[in-house]
This record gives sequence, C-alpha cells and structure tokens, in this order.
Amino acid sequence: MMKLVVLISGRGSNLQAILDAQLPVEIAAVISNRPDAAGLDLARARGIPALALDHKQYASREAFDNALIGVIDRYQPELVVLAGYLRILGDSFVMHYAGRLMNIHPSLLPSFPGLDTHARALAEGVKIHGCTVHFVTPMLDHGPIIVQAAVPVHSNDTAATLAARVLAAEHCVYPKAIAWFAQGRLLLLDNGQVNLRDDSGSEQTLFISGSLP
Ligand code: GRF
Repeated sequence: MMKLVVLISGRGSNLQAILDAQLPVEIAAVISNRPDAAGLDLARARGIPALALDHKQYASREAFDNALIGVIDRYQPELVVLAGYLRILGDSFVMHYAGRLMNIHPSLLPSFPGLDTHARALAEGVKIHGCTVHFVTPMLDHGPIIVQAAVPVHSNDTAATLAARVLAAEHCVYPKAIAWFAQGRLLLLDNGQVNLRDDSGSEQTLFISGSLP
C-alpha cells in the first residue's frame, strides 16, 4: 500500500475526509507544526502516529524545514499531503518532495492565492468559487493543478457561508486526488499540466463543476 504523511496545522477536517474515504493507502503519520492542532487528536483516535513539531522552537525557516524533512522521511512516504498546513515551506523542502507534495487551496487557482480567499472572492463579486488540489512548487499557491471543484456564490453569502460550501467541496476532491495518485493515474506533463489517465490507459482532462452543495 502506498504510504503517505499528512501535514496539518489546525482542525483537520480535510484529514478527516481523507480518513473517512478509507483509501487503499497507509497514512503513516500526521504531523502538525502546532502542538494544539485538533487534527492530531483525530489521528490518534484512529491509531495513526500523530506528532507535533513546533516551528517556534526553531531559529529559522530552514532549520525547521530540515527538521520536518527528517521526521517525514523516517516514514518513507511516497506522497506528502498538505491538509490545512498553514505554514510557508521553503524552496529546498518543496524540491525535496518534488512531484509528491500535494496541497489543497480554497479558491479556483490561479485566482485568489494566499489568505482570506472567501472574503476576497465576495469582494470581487465572482459568481463561481471553489477549491484546487495541486502539486506544490516553490511559488506559493501555484503548481500543476490536479483537480478543481467549483461552487456557486450566492448573493446573500458571507465569507463563512461561502467557506462552508467550499469546504464541503474540498472534502470531496482531496480524497479523489490522493486515490488517483495512489493508482498511478496522475500524469504530470512537460508543460506543467496534469492529466488523469483513465482505466483504459488513455488520458483525459479534469474538470469537476457545479452541483456540489
Ligand atoms: C482548508 O480550507 C484548506 O483548503 C486550507 O486550510 C483549510 C484547512 O481546514 N488550506 P482543515 O484543517 O482541513 O479543516
């Protein structure tokens, strides 16, 4: 079974969705940069090794990233999954896991990289919002897009109602993307795009839209 390590910083609802999906993967460890992350308890409750590596204990980003690599690599994961991991990773960390580091971002990238995506989407008056699962590259919230889910924006939405709708979509697509990776179905093309290989071996472009809550 493919081994993965999940990095979190907080409540861990995406982690929970990944666990609930009962994918044919071994979640070797869950690691948080914040010792109080609720997601750590979730992992422990399922018997998964859950560790905190407090970034505040390290003098520099590089020192922390190197320590994190050391802990992750003890588990020899084939994939590292960022699930609400709210700390910027340095270039050497990202390059160390090139092609096997996945992130979920709560917007339809390349729109709204960074923080406060839902409030910014409302301020722009967009009619469609959503989330993106992508491979991580050194540029923040960029990188080859694996799958996106779109949700409608309603005229009476607040950042909170919109966030909840997007989060439900996140919980659908992240387990799917991980399953595709585990099945060897994600093709990273030379042009930086990702295609999904279907069961017959041909390729198809990904797009999931619309009818999510
Ligand atoms: C999610 O919206 C994710 O897209 C973003 O941070 C949030 C984490 O939520 N990167 P959770 O910890 O998975 O509940």
